[in-house]
Amino acid sequence: VTNRTFTMLKPDAVEAGHIGAILEKINGAGFRIVSMEMTQLSRKDAQKFYEVHSERPFYGELVDYMSSGPIVAAILEKDNAVADFRTLIGATNPAEAAEGTIRKLYATSIAANAIHGSDSDENAEIEGSFFFAKRAQY
Ligand code: CMP
Repeated sequence: VTNRTFTMLKPDAVEAGHIGAILEKINGAGFRIVSMEMTQLSRKDAQKFYEVHSERPFYGELVDYMSSGPIVAAILEKDNAVADFRTLIGATNPAEAAEGTIRKLYATSIAANAIHGSDSDENAEIEGSFFFAKRAQY
């Protein structure tokens, strides 16, 4: 079934000039861009977005990093979107990411790992609404 996922190109990927290359891979893999925005998260935004990780030891580092520079947020649509997108981006730790995946190509570390992909349909909806609830979805 056609469904949606949510992604962010993280500050490391934006800063390194990889927006174009990554969007090309996303479109090339058959995802349709439904909504997209370049923005910068405040610390408060990042704390809220990653609230599920608030008890993790890396939470502070994650919040600092994700609010450190501009990101690109987008809602994507495709058959089997959540699972297929996670295959396209590769493992969280770029050292473990498969050849050809976005993280293998562009991530620098487990924290600065280039790109986010929702882990479930439910989280895709929650995360997409965080950015785009009141915005156009094409
Ligand atoms: P993502 O899966 O997009 O969302 C949670 C993020 O936490 C994850 O990407 C990583 O960037 C980050 N993360 C996970 N584990 C670690 C870790 N051990 N140290 C730092 N950051 C981490």
